[in-house]
Amino acid sequence: MSKADHWNAVYSQKAEAELSWHQDDPSVAIDLMKKAGLARHSSVIDIGAGTSRLMDSLLDLGIRDLSALDLSENALSASRHRLGARGQAVKWIVADITGWEPTRTYDIWHDRAVFHFLVNPTDQTAYIERLARSVSAGGHAIIATFALDGPEKCSGFPVARYSPESLAKTLGQSFALVLHQEHRHLTPWGHPQSFQYSLFRKSN
Ligand SMILES: C[S@@+](CC[C@H](N)C(=O)[O-])C[C@H]1O[C@@H](n2cnc3c(N)ncnc32)[C@H](O)[C@@H]1O
Repeated sequence: MSKADHWNAVYSQKAEAELSWHQDDPSVAIDLMKKAGLARHSSVIDIGAGTSRLMDSLLDLGIRDLSALDLSENALSASRHRLGARGQAVKWIVADITGWEPTRTYDIWHDRAVFHFLVNPTDQTAYIERLARSVSAGGHAIIATFALDGPEKCSGFPVARYSPESLAKTLGQSFALVLHQEHRHLTPWGHPQSFQYSLFRKSN
């Protein structure tokens, strides 16, 4: 089964309450975006957006240059339908981040629980190349992964866990760690998962 088939099956067969990563309120990410200078004219891309409520919150804030990328068409289609007419403002991109060819830059790159699935160096390098090409000079990346004491697997896949420092080292010198924040996510069934959010600034 391909990765896309796996994730499409997850989103078509499970209710949101059965997805460990489901989060009703993406306020941790929104607060970090505000610290990164989020403004009405900002361009934001969410990598591995799934059915996250991030686009909903950004639209509520009046931000209109929005893109959501995921390899699961089912996930993006669910979000598009949930948002209705408001969803027309979002560019929905069905792609595997490790093979995607960006055609523009963004002020803010957001990724919650996607980079940590890339456990081999080839995929990590492919991701980081796209990150470096997609974020404008002086722009920001917010990457949330499982923390060092977080789960070792998600959706049946092994994950790589990071501290802010190990993530900064993995991303390389083009991305300076600005700040980081621990976050204890509660799954819909109340089980705690340890995440760490890191905010990076891309050098000029
Ligand atoms: C654990 S979920 C997190 C979803 C969302 N970020 C959230 O916070 O609710 C991981 C998401 O990443 C997507 N994904 C996994 N590998 C990917 C890849 N290589 N490229 C793009 N999306 C990917 C999956 O389809 C899924 O929607």
